[in-house]
Amino acid sequence: MLDHNDKRVLVTGGAGFIGSHTVDLLLASGYSVRVLDNFSSGRQANLPEHKHLDVMQGDIRSREDVSAAMRGITHCLHLAAQVSVSRSVEDPYDSATHNILGALNVMQSAAQAKVTKLVYASSAAVYGVPTQLPLTEESCQQPLSPYGLEKWVDERYAALLASLHNLPSLGLRYFNVYGPRQDPHSSYAGVVARFIDRLLAHQAPIVYGDGHQSRDFIYVGDVARANLTALFSEQCGICNVATGQRINLLELIDLLNHFTGCSLPAQHLPAKAEDIQHSYGDPQRLAEWLSLSPQWTLSEGLSELIQDYRHTIARESASPLKVSA
Ligand SMILES: NC(=O)c1ccc[n+]([C@@H]2O[C@H](COP(=O)([O-])OP(=O)(O)OC[C@H]3O[C@@H](n4cnc5c(N)ncnc54)[C@H](O)[C@@H]3O)[C@@H](O)[C@H]2O)c1
Repeated sequence: MLDHNDKRVLVTGGAGFIGSHTVDLLLASGYSVRVLDNFSSGRQANLPEHKHLDVMQGDIRSREDVSAAMRGITHCLHLAAQVSVSRSVEDPYDSATHNILGALNVMQSAAQAKVTKLVYASSAAVYGVPTQLPLTEESCQQPLSPYGLEKWVDERYAALLASLHNLPSLGLRYFNVYGPRQDPHSSYAGVVARFIDRLLAHQAPIVYGDGHQSRDFIYVGDVARANLTALFSEQCGICNVATGQRINLLELIDLLNHFTGCSLPAQHLPAKAEDIQHSYGDPQRLAEWLSLSPQWTLSEGLSELIQDYRHTIARESASPLKVSA
């Protein structure tokens, strides 16, 4: 295995869904990793025991926590965030303390530490209702939620700090990420996790509206590769992390029924006013800047994910610690 221990990567939010997969990949590639996480949604169990991993419990809103975590760091991947769109609508002030002030705290600290590269999580939510498809990095950006606006503000701050403090950064606009370790029970879980959870419990997946809404689903393993490649590339600016493919929710449910061996049609509830009808990203810059194209087809990713769910269910039901109500 290659030894990259002269490169020490800080991953904020590293105990979460995307973060923990990226930590696994960084460690497997021979890098030293530090995680800063307040464990609000992340879990210690998502992280391996590894001699090149140290985990700090702390908050991106705290200057002390972030500057302590930044000590000795050469590269920073900033993922920690308040990730719920609906919570950002209910309490935009609190959401902004994580997603604007917390992000700015990480960026400022990274600039002071003169890290070689900062990569940070933006989101397809910066686009709002698409005025063209596929969405390119230059497409109109009119976020519909405080969450989307916060990610957009982060991009502006990153661009400003690049010129004021010479901080090289790349913002990644993730589309709909799915894969193992995504919590289906949180109020903001992705549809893939929620649909599988319902199907494996022999319940009809719930769809808001007619189900013809389409999305660009990207497997978390491909997102982890994009994060790692972005950290060690010289490209700076903004880049979509998307497949360029779209599928509507009814087609997704058909696929999931196929892989789970179920035949449960969707249960339809009234459409949500804020729901975007169609969204998918142009992955051309991802290919040109980072020489990446998604390795996982949707069928491969879904079948891997369902296998992982089945293993987890089997493990949990075999656990002697499980107490039945
Ligand atoms: N999952 C997606 O489809 C998706 C799409 C677009 C963008 N994103 C962005 O990707 C990033 C990672 O998202 P995820 O899906 O892995 O979510 P996640 O909730 O699994 O991970 C977020 C992590 O950040 C930690 N955290 C939250 N607030 C913190 C704080 N104040 N201080 C320290 N740690 C804190 C949580 O404990 C968690 O471990 C986020 O910035 C999110 O906005 C995700």
